[in-house]
Amino acid sequence: MLPRCAFSVCHVLMLVLCLSAAEDFDWTKNDHGSFYYGTFPAGFSWGAGSSAYQTEGAWDKDGKGLSIWDVFSHKKGKIQQNETGDSSCEGYYKVKDDVSLMKELKLNHYRFSISWPRLLPTGIKSDHINEKGMQHYDQLIDHLLENKITPIVTLYHWDLPQVLQEKYGGWQNISMVNHFNEFANLCFERFGNRVKYWITFNNPWSVAVEGYETGEHAPGLKLRGTGAYRAAHHIIKAHAKVWHTYDTQWRAKQKGLVGISLSGDWGEPVDISNQKDIEAAERYVQFYLGWFATPIFHGDYPQVMKDFIGRKSVQQGLGTSRLPTFSPQEKSYIKGTCDFLGVGHFTTRYITQKNNPSSRSSSSYFSDRDLAELVDPRWPDPGSEWLYSVPWGFRRLLNFIKTQYGNPMIYVTENGVSEKMLCTELCDDWRIQYYKDYINEMLKAIKDGVNVKGYTAWSLLDKFEWDEGYSERFGLYYVDFRNKNKPRYPKASVQFYKRIISSNGFPNQREVENWRRKAVETCSSSNQLLAADPLTSHMEMVTEIVVPTVCTLSILLSAIFLMFLLRRRN
Ligand code: NOJ
Repeated sequence: MLPRCAFSVCHVLMLVLCLSAAEDFDWTKNDHGSFYYGTFPAGFSWGAGSSAYQTEGAWDKDGKGLSIWDVFSHKKGKIQQNETGDSSCEGYYKVKDDVSLMKELKLNHYRFSISWPRLLPTGIKSDHINEKGMQHYDQLIDHLLENKITPIVTLYHWDLPQVLQEKYGGWQNISMVNHFNEFANLCFERFGNRVKYWITFNNPWSVAVEGYETGEHAPGLKLRGTGAYRAAHHIIKAHAKVWHTYDTQWRAKQKGLVGISLSGDWGEPVDISNQKDIEAAERYVQFYLGWFATPIFHGDYPQVMKDFIGRKSVQQGLGTSRLPTFSPQEKSYIKGTCDFLGVGHFTTRYITQKNNPSSRSSSSYFSDRDLAELVDPRWPDPGSEWLYSVPWGFRRLLNFIKTQYGNPMIYVTENGVSEKMLCTELCDDWRIQYYKDYINEMLKAIKDGVNVKGYTAWSLLDKFEWDEGYSERFGLYYVDFRNKNKPRYPKASVQFYKRIISSNGFPNQREVENWRRKAVETCSSSNQLLAADPLTSHMEMVTEIVVPTVCTLSILLSAIFLMFLLRRRN
């Protein structure tokens, strides 16, 4: 996810592109092709996802310890409207309800994360194990399995125990490797008889860059030029250690898989005939996904990162590179520690070469890359500021992974789109379009030979969207956060995604268009249901009814005002 500061270097660009279909992937062509009707391989796994801090709520209940996000979100000015994840979707109390929603969607898998401080309040296993926290995840896993939904479990989706941040500096400190390994080992021991898919880290790029470089995320540190590289270095080591722990102690008995979930935007050269732009675009992807994937698949950082950060460090008068190094033993220990690769993907950028000054004061992850990011203003951007819908970038990223890392087994662990809506809106036609096109590009990638085994729509529910609070809604299900019961309502995309799942793809144009028409028809009745929902308190009832009415009224008033102005001009 692109932090706001990076947008300051983005120029808006108009680009006219040729769109055409292709069976085989050809890197030299700009094939942003037509729709491909067909089905996914048998056994393809369809899912939806969530994470603990974003959905659970119950931040201080049943013996849970504080996480860095609890503390960060309670500080004034860090989160939009000073919102917190204190209660969020109350997912902690709604296991059965939420599994029913998954059943309704006919999901094959559900991806969720375990809150480290809910199990280990101080983060340290020898201090105290919180059995109530254990029971919660036991219940969730059991309930999923009873309903034939495979759990895919993330061990770290950003909620580090606060004690570890305060005592050691969090991921700046190498001691996190052992603490995280202890926590992971406990999860393997207690849940591994039932959980067969483990993800060590979710999107470590964000942890490193937004947590320790820009400070937009917890723990909010701004250690520019060094903090992100150091955090990433320890995260990669922690991942490798946990993979080895599973491999040596649990694999034979539990027969599961351990992977990591990396996020990556695709970077397309602005001018595909310009070598400098081609190299800049490659650098963009290497500094993003490659930063983590290259050590894990090949044992060391991408050469281009070593070259660029090394050269800039010398120019800044530093004795060593700001990018840490792995010893030969560490390289061979880290290499190959991935049974499957989780991929989180949302958007694409055009990239062009741009030299940045190398002074010590301006050193940062962003300036190290020597590039500028651009967007096409015609790309749809219905929600988050950084999220433009560019489906063809997904196919390109998946093919890049195939060629760079030896065609690994891939699970798409996050893909989806948000909306920024003041008015309640369940008829999310643009989300249907996004899913339809992105899932279709994934299908084309599979035809290209990319080994994608599963897809996870992000996300099951609207939820706490980190520094954006509740202002950006990614859910298939709408959550009414103003009602203390946090009721869920299906958006139109639920109907559409459900059809993709039951057909295992896209049978033919007529049917797919029918799905879409029907989905949009049913959502208007859901909209009425939402507006008419009997609410628990008078206060809530007023907001529930008033908000849509105020929206409708403001639209009407603006229209009348416009007409009035036009008349006066004539
Ligand atoms: C990636 C993060 O893992 C997830 O938690 C977040 O909701 C999405 N990006 C959307 O920003």
